[in-house]
Amino acid sequence: MRQSTLEPEANNVPAHVAIIMDGNGRWARQRGLPRIAGHQQGVESVTEVVDACARKGVCYLSLFAFSSENWGRPRQEVDALMLLLLDYLTSQRQKMLENGIRLRVIGDLSRMTQGVQQALVEAVQATSAGKGLTLVLALSYGGRDEILRAVRRIVMQVQGGKLDPDRLDADAFAAFLDLADMPPADLMIRTSGEMRISNFLLWQAAYTELYFTEVLWPDFNLEELNKAFADYYQRRRRFGLTDEQLQL
Ligand code: IPE
Ligand code: IPE
Ligand code: MG
Repeated sequence: MRQSTLEPEANNVPAHVAIIMDGNGRWARQRGLPRIAGHQQGVESVTEVVDACARKGVCYLSLFAFSSENWGRPRQEVDALMLLLLDYLTSQRQKMLENGIRLRVIGDLSRMTQGVQQALVEAVQATSAGKGLTLVLALSYGGRDEILRAVRRIVMQVQGGKLDPDRLDADAFAAFLDLADMPPADLMIRTSGEMRISNFLLWQAAYTELYFTEVLWPDFNLEELNKAFADYYQRRRRFGLTDEQLQL
């Protein structure tokens, strides 16, 4: 494996890293290839980044793989992405089990075909005993949609007399979200030079450190991940407090 001089020390590894994996289409277009070729190459980046995060001691890695808005893409591309997902689940299964990776899926899975839903449920169950990295795949996911689904469940509980609205604070609300039992994202990386969140973890990104890079997702690798981590280690997270308070 290629050695990097930028490998940061594991002193303050972000517990939860979130990545908006963008730029597959542009990577393919630059090479005169169909968009799907970019998605295929993007899967290689996924495997490299998953391995690297597991080695670095990251606890949670959330990958934005397919947004609620991506359903609006041409049918052919959507179908190809679903096939790539199925391939990924099959090809990585053994490695996930060996490396203790626990798979988790967030988003509105009801929009997926029965076949894809079943493959996801099986992969999640098969890896549920994993003690290493939790790999969260955001599929058919939108931050607004996640919040709306939580609100619907809360309203039902209030109507059923099971929840007192006065007791609904931020922690109680978060318990209804897809990522209920996970810490908020510490570091969010977006590739391809776009500087927006595109409806990814909205609630969980309130105090997330954002890192944007021009690198297209299929070109993203361990070296680029190390750059993002090195940048993160330079940040001073204040959470609304003053520097003086943080020094106490
Ligand atoms: C990200 O790459 C992958 C998905 C959104 C599924 P894109 O397909 O958005 O690539 P660009 O942005 O068109 O280059
Ligand atoms: C965000 O990328 C969604 C994923 C990476 C899955 P998009 O390519 O869909 O985002 P926009 O349209 O550029 O905001
Ligand atoms: Mg894009």
